[in-house]
Amino acid sequence: MTTIDSPAPDTPRQVAKPTIGVYRRHLLVCTGPRCNADGAAQALFDSLGEKFKASGLDGGPLRVKRSRVSCFAACKGGPIVCVQPDGTWYYDVTPDNMDRIIDQHLCKGEHVEDLVFHQANVED
Ligand code: FES
Repeated sequence: MTTIDSPAPDTPRQVAKPTIGVYRRHLLVCTGPRCNADGAAQALFDSLGEKFKASGLDGGPLRVKRSRVSCFAACKGGPIVCVQPDGTWYYDVTPDNMDRIIDQHLCKGEHVEDLVFHQANVED
């Protein structure tokens, strides 16, 4: 017997398809236990909405999506952030350093070299 709670066995499963707005880059911020031991990483993440808005990164062709991650397994010199799809990894991302990353990398596409600890797709 088919009831409202149990569809017929041959009925395809209905799953809502998620949507994500168009974005140019994705900023991943580690708020894991070592990067966020003093609360700095979470505070950094919480500040991004206003910072992106002030820099015009909350919309338009350079829009940046932001997400928290629980650990990158790097765990030194945090807060650590990663910019994708560029594959650029930054450490010691204090509020001032985040401002530099926003201005140089997210707005102008230039790495902040002294804060980079790893760059994907580059041979040593
Ligand atoms: S806690 Fe941040 S990389 Fe592990």
